[in-house]
Amino acid sequence: MRGDRLGGMNSEPRRVEHQQTDRGNIPVYAAGTVEQPWDRYSRTDHEVWAQLFRRQREILKHRATREFLDNQERFGMSADAIPKFDDLNNVLSLGTGWEIVGVEGLLPDQVFFDHLANRRFPVTWWIRKPEQLDYISEPDLFHDLFGHVPLLLNPVFADYMQAYGRGGVKAHGIGADALMNLTRLYWYTVEFGLINTSEGLRIYGSGIVSSKGESVYCLESNAPNRLGFDLERIMRTRYKIDTFQQTYFVIDSFEQLMEATEPDFRPIYERLAPQPAFPAGEVQASDRVIHRGTGEGWIKSGDV
Ligand code: PHE
Ligand code: FE
Repeated sequence: MRGDRLGGMNSEPRRVEHQQTDRGNIPVYAAGTVEQPWDRYSRTDHEVWAQLFRRQREILKHRATREFLDNQERFGMSADAIPKFDDLNNVLSLGTGWEIVGVEGLLPDQVFFDHLANRRFPVTWWIRKPEQLDYISEPDLFHDLFGHVPLLLNPVFADYMQAYGRGGVKAHGIGADALMNLTRLYWYTVEFGLINTSEGLRIYGSGIVSSKGESVYCLESNAPNRLGFDLERIMRTRYKIDTFQQTYFVIDSFEQLMEATEPDFRPIYERLAPQPAFPAGEVQASDRVIHRGTGEGWIKSGDV
């Protein structure tokens, strides 16, 4: 179908993971797309999927936003086997015109933005090992597929993701600070967002739904802050990458998210450039506080 996939008939897709060096964890990037080597998944791979799928479906029953759970069912995702990208794409293309493409690991920023801007969502083809059920430091198939793909069936969220991709291409041309502002928006919405529903606070962020511990902590722990969504506030807020978040931002609807991000960000980037960033866990006087975190168990250092 698509002509630009890496790996001819003989080469197998690689499993590109971070590298452990004496200077710590170094992320490794791979730019191309690959066919999903579905026949190559081992029994263990399918079992890892099944275990994670069952466990998270149970935990998320009254915690994830209904739409997320319903959409997983519309896709026919189940514990039986790792889903086939082609099957998901049949549903997705009819639904919102998005397409899943297979990738080997983290993508360079511009490549990632270009995919999103063209309604293609990159999904890592490989799944974590059994010893990584509870934590993995990079996206794998479970995070990407279980976590990100369901909401791509929501028309408003689908448009938001594309707009984000276009915004990324633009921010990349403006500079590193603009890119950082935009990355924080992705982090606090797409990855770690909460949403207010008639049934109460619910999860929609992919980084949360693919984590057993954080799915409970983000809603039920007194430690983290839960604040009303505020675009510029988010763009100024640092975050944690290897512990649970200290602050979550709550949207009222995907429409609100779409509307708030509609304006040209260029003047916002300019306005924010001279302003200092906020630490991940600090509450500001202007915040709309839903819950003020106790800060219990927080590590103060290490904000990205
Ligand atoms: N409006 C943003 C801009 O001008 C683009 C964008 C939309 C970014 C939605 C993120 C999410 O850059
Ligand atoms: Fe992600």
